[in-house]
Amino acid sequence: MNKRTFKDIDVAGKRVLVRVDYNVPFNEDGEISDDTRIRGTIPTLNYLLKQKAKIILCSHLGRPKGMQNPKFSLAPVAKRLSNILGVPVKMAKDAVGESAKTLVGEMQPGDIVMLENVRFYAQEEENDDDFAKELASLADVFVNDAFGTAHRAHASTAGVAKYLPSVAGFLMSSEIMALGDYVENAEKPFVLILGGAKVTDKIGVISALLPKVNTVLIGGAMANTFIACNGGKLGYSRFEKDKLEVAKKILDEAERLNVKVLLPIDVVASTEFAENAPCKRMKADDIRDGYQAMDIGPKTCRLFAKEIKHAKTIVWNGPMGVFEFKKFQKGTRAVAKAVAKANCVSIVGGGDSASAINSMGYAGKITHISTGGGASLKFLEGANLPGISMLLDKDK
Ligand code: 3PG
Repeated sequence: MNKRTFKDIDVAGKRVLVRVDYNVPFNEDGEISDDTRIRGTIPTLNYLLKQKAKIILCSHLGRPKGMQNPKFSLAPVAKRLSNILGVPVKMAKDAVGESAKTLVGEMQPGDIVMLENVRFYAQEEENDDDFAKELASLADVFVNDAFGTAHRAHASTAGVAKYLPSVAGFLMSSEIMALGDYVENAEKPFVLILGGAKVTDKIGVISALLPKVNTVLIGGAMANTFIACNGGKLGYSRFEKDKLEVAKKILDEAERLNVKVLLPIDVVASTEFAENAPCKRMKADDIRDGYQAMDIGPKTCRLFAKEIKHAKTIVWNGPMGVFEFKKFQKGTRAVAKAVAKANCVSIVGGGDSASAINSMGYAGKITHISTGGGASLKFLEGANLPGISMLLDKDK
């Protein structure tokens, strides 16, 4: 990695603005349902606590569209963080107003203050210079640990870096290492596993990785588009009519590069997009009228597991079926199990894939679980991520 980390600069006793991505999911009872992103920042925070830095945390939560909205307050996140760290986390009522300034002004070495949701200000997503300057004025150093938001050129991810010495935190560096260095130097066989709803979201990743991989396994609704372009019968399964050409080009390019592309051979199909609708196993390219594919079937699970077993490098992004319905999680879980059992470098990104790994207790068996959804895809595509490119280079 060619970016400086906070180990390369002096943070002892300093006011350190740490951009984190605490955009975490909540359940119907308003409780945080997955705190992976909070836990991911603990190594950075522990290091800063040891250095007696004054830690000023800044994040977005949801998409409040530049308006104050208590539904998107970071207060519950501050509470959860405080419980995890076992130290108090003071919550500011704003991000750049009186409350933030007063709390930061009163900070002692080792204190933590969490600023309120930066997306309560329209200037955040506009990457407004004055807003970035105001945020920067709270601190002496900027640490970006928000890999999940690194693909957004916002005031708190990129703009602020113009005004402070800016370096990567632990989480950011480990993401760059895994998605960058490990993938760049991937040992073969290299298996890319893609799932999720749309081919559209994954075109960039497939195009960028096709020359590097040996095998691509495709599941989820995005597989339907490939099956359709091969002339398969899909019942009323979802697929992208306007991406048939793209799918065909990808398959042709894979053939030219001698990359094996495996599509589902069987699926679990149901009469409705619902958990309790009647469902049946059928051939993936011969789905009966009135049925739609909801998950990969057992034969496909075995086929995919066989490929995964021999891999030396795996990158997996996206579920194999409709993961929000428990009944259709089997395919994703089978892939999670196979990836966890494989003796190789494994990199998993995307909410549902990561959630399958975590809920099955396999996290320790995966080389790297990315905290970024869109950001990890953009990174793998080789795109320039503003939240990373703005950080200081090692040789500067
Ligand atoms: C994410 O969850 O992918 C990041 O936090 C970015 O959120 P956004 O898509 O609302 O910018």
